[in-house]
Amino acid sequence: MHSITEALLNRSSEPRLKAPAPPQDVLDLALACAARAPDHALLRPWRYLVIEGEGLERLGELFEASAPAGASDAQRQKLRKAPLRAPMVLVAIASPVSHPKVPEYEQEYACAASAAYLVLALQAEGYGAMWRSGEVSDNDQVCKGLGLGDRESIVGFIYVGTVDSEKPPVPRPEISEFTSRWPQ
Ligand SMILES: Cc1cc2nc3c(=O)[nH]c(=O)nc-3n(C[C@H](O)[C@H](O)[C@H](O)COP(=O)(O)O)c2cc1C
Repeated sequence: MHSITEALLNRSSEPRLKAPAPPQDVLDLALACAARAPDHALLRPWRYLVIEGEGLERLGELFEASAPAGASDAQRQKLRKAPLRAPMVLVAIASPVSHPKVPEYEQEYACAASAAYLVLALQAEGYGAMWRSGEVSDNDQVCKGLGLGDRESIVGFIYVGTVDSEKPPVPRPEISEFTSRWPQ
C-alpha cells in the first residue's frame, strides 16, 4: 500500500489536543500540501490564519462576543474557552474571486479540499488535528474580527496540537453503502 493511502485509511480527527503545536517547518510543510489541492483555473481561492498563544485568547473573546442576546453565562464562557482546546488554531478561509468559468462555490470546494489536505498532512507528520465549525464560523462579528473580506467565508477552524489521548475509532462505512455503478 502506498504511504498516502495508508495515511488516509489510518487518519482520525483528534479532539483532545495539548502543546506542543507543530513547529514552523512542519506547519510550512502542511500548508504547502494544502496549496496542492485541486483548484480549477489555479485561482488559489484560500488563505489561512495561524493563531497561537495570546491570539487564542483574542479568538475566544470574539467567539464570546458572537453569543446570541439571551445566552447564559455558561454558554458565553464555553464560547470564550473554545479556542483553548488546542495550542494552535488554523482558520481556513475561502477567498473567491470573480472568474468567467469558475463559480464561487467551486472555489469554496477547492478551499475545503485544501483544508482536508492540511489536516491529513499534519496527521501524517504525527500531530493531531480536528476540523471544527459551529455557529461561530458563520457569524458576521467573528468574520469581521478576523479580517475577512465581504466575499470571504470561514470554511473551518482547524484545531491542531499533540494528541493527548486518542478518541475511540470512528466506524467506517461499507464501500457499497455509498457507491454504485452507473448505468446498472
Ligand atoms: C466542514 C466541517 C465542519 C466540522 N465541524 C465540526 C464541529 O464543529 N464539531 C465537531 O465535533 N466536528 C466537526 N467536524 C467533524 C470532525 O472534524 C471529524 O471529521 C469527525 O469528528 C469525524 O472524525 P474522523 O475525521 O476521525 O472520521 C466537521 C467536519 C467538517 C468537514
